[in-house]
Amino acid sequence: MPSTFLVTSSDEFENAARVEMGRYDSKLKLGKSLEPGLFLATTQLNWDDFAAIVGQEPPIFARHLFPVHATVPLTKTETDLDKMAEAVEQMPRLEELAADTPFSVQARLFEEIEGQALSYAYTPFAIKERLVEVVQKKTGAVENIREPLEILSVVCSQGSAYLGLSPAELNLSGWAGGMRRFAKREEQISRAELKLQEALEVFEVELPTGGEALDLGASPGGWTRLLLEAGLKVTAIDPADLDPRLQKYEAALSHFQGHAERFLENSLADKFRLGRYAVLVSDVRMDANMAAHLMVSFAPLLARDGLAITTLKLPHETAKLKPAQLVEQALSILRKTYPNLQARQLFHNRSEITVLLRK
Ligand SMILES: C[S@@+](CC[C@H](N)C(=O)[O-])C[C@H]1O[C@@H](n2cnc3c(N)ncnc32)[C@H](O)[C@@H]1O
Repeated sequence: MPSTFLVTSSDEFENAARVEMGRYDSKLKLGKSLEPGLFLATTQLNWDDFAAIVGQEPPIFARHLFPVHATVPLTKTETDLDKMAEAVEQMPRLEELAADTPFSVQARLFEEIEGQALSYAYTPFAIKERLVEVVQKKTGAVENIREPLEILSVVCSQGSAYLGLSPAELNLSGWAGGMRRFAKREEQISRAELKLQEALEVFEVELPTGGEALDLGASPGGWTRLLLEAGLKVTAIDPADLDPRLQKYEAALSHFQGHAERFLENSLADKFRLGRYAVLVSDVRMDANMAAHLMVSFAPLLARDGLAITTLKLPHETAKLKPAQLVEQALSILRKTYPNLQARQLFHNRSEITVLLRK
């Protein structure tokens, strides 16, 4: 049975997301863009089989997927809620939900005209409340926003609501549209901090609570702060200054105020530094291939089972310049030294992706 699904990526990398989705199914039909970074696609496979193939080698640019089980035309009035409720009640997939299954409803509303005030007569919360009630009544499943096993996704765009129920693990992200938001913390030093936080969550890894870490391109010091907070001793490498708030970690922090390449020259000759670092992270502002080479050249300093994370900065797409091709080049440079890598364009990444590396 063919299945239609909705893909979310960042606005900027929608083309790259389209290309990579096509790799999972040569007969995939790509639909129109509903919004920048939101498009429909239809596979000839059934949804579970298709999602399983995607899960084996997750995409980089597509952040979120869900199967469309029902489409409801919208009037933007309260009656839409009744129509959506009816559509959910009739979803065959609902019959498969065992009582007590933890589930959640995620709703997103888009306006047709950018900047126009919201003209729906209901909010995403109202959709959620209504549909939670329907699912609960019909199946006995229980709402669990934090750890749902099943997610009923709703996207209202271009005059229609697209609804689908799927296991959270097949959606690529447990967050609506892959939009992982973190509560603002007072101690946060930079916006970049959120990228590392999100990467650890998406790649399901934890920072070690002891040992030493290298942070390349560390200034102003957001990633350094997270590493220090985890309990690591950190060498922060950056020609620029670190935020003065890091002074309180003085005992565990040293700042090499220069370029990463110069730090490396000094270190490779020092046998005590080889294999010494449990963590190597890099957020240096440089071209993706150069950043990949930098991670490769630092590999001798990383412990054998060490954890490495790097961002790869990408240019804006043009007719000649395809960010997805640059990513492929950079990843193939990295793969020779770090065969086990995972790459994602995270919600907190701007024109860049984040890569988890293991030797
Ligand atoms: C995006 S910022 C890093 C933000 C940081 N991760 C944080 O959490 O605050 C990029 C940094 O890379 C540094 N940089 C650029 N080239 C570098 C190089 N060759 N070696 C070390 N740092 C470099 C820049 O000085 C800049 O501070």
